Amino acid sequence: MMRKNFIDNCILARRSVRDFMPDEIPEEHLNLMLEAMRWAPSAGNLQPWRFYVVKDREKRRELARAALGQDFIADAPVAIVVCAVPEESSWRYGKRGSQLYCIQDTACAVMNLMLSATALGYGSVWVGAFDEKEVSRAISAPASERPVAIVPIGKPRHLEPRTKRKSLSEIVRTI
Ligand SMILES: Cc1cc2nc3c(=O)[nH]c(=O)nc-3n(C[C@H](O)[C@H](O)[C@H](O)COP(=O)(O)O)c2cc1C
Repeated sequence: MMRKNFIDNCILARRSVRDFMPDEIPEEHLNLMLEAMRWAPSAGNLQPWRFYVVKDREKRRELARAALGQDFIADAPVAIVVCAVPEESSWRYGKRGSQLYCIQDTACAVMNLMLSATALGYGSVWVGAFDEKEVSRAISAPASERPVAIVPIGKPRHLEPRTKRKSLSEIVRTI
């Protein structure tokens, strides 16, 4: 059952990893993850995103500082900073594009990144707690781009137990 395998091996196997081995990620694997991000859906297929692949350790240290001292960003061999480009959405969708769609689009790309990382045996975590200006400075992003997520990626040193979820009866309304 292919579909159940995908849910078991990717969706349920994924969990946030905050403790990484320093081993480098082969380019081939990195490219597969970037391809997965590139194929994420976006409103009007505008793809209003930029992906910064941060391998430089000093830059990752800067990102960790910008993220309120979340030092595991510097420990992972790679961190991908996902930025939204609001103007690339607003020309067609106005305020809804710049305030909502471009953020949702980048979230789709981040999810594809985390699931493809899981499928390849890597751990990752969405880091959202950071000072946007400091992150932009660290990656030299132009003012037209808004950092939405920092995603450190690497082989997990250890896996946390799976976190809990609300029950379906609490969150599903069938109408
Ligand atoms: C928008 C967003 C922001 C997050 N920010 C952080 C963060 O700054 N630091 C962190 O360690 N985890 C962060 N997380 C990870 C969540 O804590 C984690 O996904 C949640 O506890 C569920 O655990 P799981 O990912 O292992 O299933 C963030 C997740 C999301 C979706």
